Amino acid sequence: MANERAQAAPGAVYEDGPVRAFALAAVLWGVVGMAVGVFIAAQLAWPEIGAGIPWLSYGRLRPLHTNAVIFAFGGCTLMATSYHVVQRTGQTRLFAPGLAWFHFWCWQLVIVAAAISLPLGFTRGKEYAELEWPIGVLITIAWVAYAIVFFGTVGRRKIRHIYVANWFFGGFILAVALLHIVNGAVMPVSFWKSYSAYAGVQDAMVQWWYGHNAVGFFLTAGFLGMMYYYIPKQAERPVYSYRLSIVHFWALIFTYMWAGPHHLHYTALPDWAQSVGMIFSLVLLAPSWGGMINGIMTLSGAWHKLRDDPILKFLIVSLSFYGMSTFEGPMMSIKTVNALSHYTDWTIGHVHSGALGWVGLISMGSLYHLIPRMFGRTQMYSRRAIELHFWIATLGIVLYIAAMWIAGVMQGLMWRAVNPDGTLVYTFVESVKATWPFYVARLLGGLLYLAGMLVMAWNVVRTVQAGRAQPVRIPQVMAHA
Ligand code: HEM
Ligand code: HEM
Repeated sequence: MANERAQAAPGAVYEDGPVRAFALAAVLWGVVGMAVGVFIAAQLAWPEIGAGIPWLSYGRLRPLHTNAVIFAFGGCTLMATSYHVVQRTGQTRLFAPGLAWFHFWCWQLVIVAAAISLPLGFTRGKEYAELEWPIGVLITIAWVAYAIVFFGTVGRRKIRHIYVANWFFGGFILAVALLHIVNGAVMPVSFWKSYSAYAGVQDAMVQWWYGHNAVGFFLTAGFLGMMYYYIPKQAERPVYSYRLSIVHFWALIFTYMWAGPHHLHYTALPDWAQSVGMIFSLVLLAPSWGGMINGIMTLSGAWHKLRDDPILKFLIVSLSFYGMSTFEGPMMSIKTVNALSHYTDWTIGHVHSGALGWVGLISMGSLYHLIPRMFGRTQMYSRRAIELHFWIATLGIVLYIAAMWIAGVMQGLMWRAVNPDGTLVYTFVESVKATWPFYVARLLGGLLYLAGMLVMAWNVVRTVQAGRAQPVRIPQVMAHA
């Protein structure tokens, strides 16, 4: 049956313009977002470096950092790779290329609007959903365009089977749409001010249902889509277990949706809801590790490639960090552990082992695979620069997360230490003083990670200069079962 639909028009080429644009934007926003991260890390060690200028204050730049790295760097990487993968695995052109370009420019407008409005102090005050309602509307428009192009391309595929990477990308697009609409419900009182449609503990619950699934879908599901395409491609090996990848998909998306209450332990949220969050978080370890093992084992029989292929190093080490953060997360969701970790820098260590180790490294590995191919080359301009990037980034991550883990556990223990008469052993300021050296160590780690990103930007510019954006022909599909 599929044979009839399996003929690509002779001479047809992939629609790679939006892929190139998103990939280059990802590198640019990566540099910007991480530079802001380094700046706020320096502010935590030396608070006066903002010179009292309101738009350089920590409270305004912190959400700028999180929005830039998650939605600009991560978002553009997801959009570049999903548009690349959905065409290759369906052996078809993008559906509505004009709309894909509209999506690109609309998303850049969202990013620029965020970069202006956040430092000016406009915010909804909801973490990872800070942008005020007019920008929220713009996000919705961009997202609808994205969904139409992506699912339209899936619909016009020439291969009957929908490759698993597209399931992850598709799940990410649908879930983020749902999260954005539900958590974005507000009552505007002026062009730059709105209030949440929910009140009290319901508002908190909706926010952390959103927040946790932003991690699960924005920072995880789409990146797993990358894993399922770029690791087999780079390793030149099929996925270790295709069956496991399907179980992985369904188990992951079902479980993530219920784990949000672990962000609200010991709050006014009903106790049973907190326990549900904790239990689903513990269950989440299984699909997460199943996926990690599937990715890493794809290299079986080809382990030697890890020795001299720096792109594979990025891809495989990202999975080790994925495994680490998805082990740590369930542990932190246990109420008694959370009683120690919550409010401390342990959380920041956990976040960045996921963000720098998993999201960052898998993005970089995928972009290193993708970018030369988009500019008529088989390889990046400098292989040694990729190697250098890998090592300084890894060193940076280790410094960052080790510093935060030690600082976090120390803070937790200092805050709960009591004298026999019930008074506190330490004042809060003593814990801040004790944390200072770790903030400096984290800053060094961040600087290394940023330096790696700058090396990448240089390598990308040289690759683009040395290559040429050439149309890539769609292979003629003969027959598929
Ligand atoms: C050079 C690299 C980076 C540095 C130096 C850095 C630094 C920081 C700092 C100082 C904070 C605030 C911590 C606090 O409030 O105590 C932060 C928060 C955060 N960063 Fe980064 N960051 C970097 C890269 C990234 C990347 C690549 C991502 C995501 C892909 C990311 C995601 C986040 C998130 C989600 C938070 C909020 C954490 C929370 O509220 O618990 N960061 N970062
Ligand atoms: C099985 C998977 C995971 C579970 C069960 C989990 C669980 C947790 C828990 C319990 C917290 C602390 C909540 C608190 O005390 O406030 C947390 C915070 C966080 N985790 Fe995870 N985590 C997982 C994976 C990841 C991954 C892979 C990433 C990043 C890519 C990530 C990013 C974050 C962020 C950004 C926060 C901070 C949220 C905030 O307070 O702003 N997590 N996670």
